[in-house]
Amino acid sequence: MRSLNNSDIALVTGASKGIGYALVEELILNGWKVVGVARSKEALDEMSKKFGEDVFISCNCDVSNGESVKGISKRLQEKGIIPALFFLNAGIAGEAACEDVNVVSTQKHKEIFDTNYFGVLHWIEQWISVCQRDFGARFVVTSSINAIFAPPTGSAYAASKAAIAKAFEGFALTYHNTNLKFSVVYAGPVATDGLKGNLPFTWSPKKMAKYMLKNTNKGKSRIHNSLFYSSLARILRMLPKKYTMKILRNLR
Ligand SMILES: NC(=O)c1ccc[n+]([C@@H]2O[C@H](COP(=O)([O-])OP(=O)(O)OC[C@H]3O[C@@H](n4cnc5c(N)ncnc54)[C@H](OP(=O)(O)O)[C@@H]3O)[C@@H](O)[C@H]2O)c1
Repeated sequence: MRSLNNSDIALVTGASKGIGYALVEELILNGWKVVGVARSKEALDEMSKKFGEDVFISCNCDVSNGESVKGISKRLQEKGIIPALFFLNAGIAGEAACEDVNVVSTQKHKEIFDTNYFGVLHWIEQWISVCQRDFGARFVVTSSINAIFAPPTGSAYAASKAAIAKAFEGFALTYHNTNLKFSVVYAGPVATDGLKGNLPFTWSPKKMAKYMLKNTNKGKSRIHNSLFYSSLARILRMLPKKYTMKILRNLR
């Protein structure tokens, strides 16, 4: 049985930098204890020093590795650390997710799906029944406006973000009568290493983290932070390709 104060525990993947790091800061500021997950041990150690081990539990883990997620989850569960809020945010994005125009590589698609799709599902798999038996949980995934519109050289990234958004929509209905809730964030551009190029109306990671937490607390299942990019994504899908490309060239 979970002790009462576990309702103040959140888990954040991709905690070492960017949006995830800002989420950790924002959650701690709002009184949460945070389990932070990333591959970079050095960054996590720095965070333990900065925030204090009483409020920040660091977990060195590659989310694309199902066995690793299983091991970490088991250790947390054995210690009675049962988060009520999961920000499943780790992802391959930006330059790292770009495809070579001359090659269609299934390997690249697999790598991106291993992190952006299965790297989210691994956590759901390990926690869903534990949380359901306990006091419930909300799972929040950082998808993207690219789930709506796929940019050139971003096929795998867009497909992975659309796939995880759809999976969450399905979970939300499957478990709608239970204590498990699911939210999808259709993020617009945020100034991190995960953003390729300079785009107008780019948000700071801090602003994004505040927005994500506020709307998660409101219980929203679909979170769109940028009306401009959510609308633009829909328009770009409908236009003839030559106009779409013209707008994209002018945006950067
Ligand atoms: N920035 C944007 O404009 C934007 C827009 C829409 C959606 N998003 C999404 O937002 C999420 C966060 O991205 P960001 O912009 O904050 O990018 P970022 O600054 O590059 O951060 C990515 C984070 O994910 C972690 N990560 C990557 N692969 C991992 C793996 N296999 N296992 C564990 N952790 C892993 C990284 O930590 P380690 O390297 O230490 O593992 C890092 O903490 C991503 O899912 C991205 O697709 C971003």
